[in-house]
Amino acid sequence: MSDIAEFSDRMLSLGLVRVSEAAAIASARLIGHGDEKTADQAAVDAMRAQLNLLDIAGVVVIGEGERDKAPMLYIGEEVGSGNGPGVDIALDPLEGTTLTAKAMPNALAVIAMGPRGSLLHAPDTYMDKLAIGPGYAPDTVTLAMSPAERVQALAKAKDCPAHRITVCVLERPRHQEMIAELRTTGCAIRLITDGDVAGVIHTAEVAKTGIDMYMGSGGAPEGVLAAAALKCMGGQFYGCLLFRNGDERARAGRTGIKDFNRVYTRDEMVTADVIFAATGVTDGSFLKGVRRDGDFTETETILMRSKTGSVRRITYRQKSN
Ligand code: FBP
Repeated sequence: MSDIAEFSDRMLSLGLVRVSEAAAIASARLIGHGDEKTADQAAVDAMRAQLNLLDIAGVVVIGEGERDKAPMLYIGEEVGSGNGPGVDIALDPLEGTTLTAKAMPNALAVIAMGPRGSLLHAPDTYMDKLAIGPGYAPDTVTLAMSPAERVQALAKAKDCPAHRITVCVLERPRHQEMIAELRTTGCAIRLITDGDVAGVIHTAEVAKTGIDMYMGSGGAPEGVLAAAALKCMGGQFYGCLLFRNGDERARAGRTGIKDFNRVYTRDEMVTADVIFAATGVTDGSFLKGVRRDGDFTETETILMRSKTGSVRRITYRQKSN
């Protein structure tokens, strides 16, 4: 059997749920404690322990950083029992460390898995990102358009005035000009303080979240995770790596990137069928956070497979430790 055939195993996707649940539960103990590092470490430890129980020959391609900086779940680390399909893994055990430390919404534990060689080995740099939900013609909006042109193009495609479009943007000084230009269109802007994987996913569930489009720069690793999510949910996603200095270019070179100006589409970042799981850590627009109910702990996870387009929401309840 080929890697791809084995990879589609349904049980494997359920294993992935356990991995993201474990990371979310571990970091949830630190919600609101003002300690990003400890919350992240708890998520990393728990995610790694669960991953190593899976029957996969996994390689972390999007992880906690380069080997010299991250002792666990570093890029290139081999995970799993080694008995199973060869897979690429993109993960962020705690996407939104600050959100967790400050008990703010939309912190997630996130993981995606695809056949070996299917996920872009994005370096730890920034990426210029643009996303819209499903149902639009290809290239309805592009990174080549100005922010205002994107709003106008999307409004035309949606057959609504520009003021009915809501754009989600990370609130950062580097986005001030973009925000000012977006304002000239009359669109609404949902500013988020962190967590652009959730920001992008929001575009795929516009009825629930009210967000039509995501744009702006954020972590490149998070970009690959967001691309994996949209590959399952539908929707368009574009990303272009951004480099602030020679060191970042060198890092990209080490991950095999050759064209530093390339705009990647969703399917160029994730080139084969992928499975994606995210568990809410804090309450958010599309997932509930971890909650304690008497002696029990409860989580909500979204599990998606691009091959079938299936989207499951799984509630898990365990006796609290
Ligand atoms: P962490 O969970 O690693 O803190 O990342 C949160 C995040 O907001 C990402 O969602 C986003 O891609 C990135 O940080 C943006 O980076 P910066 O804070 O440097 O603008």
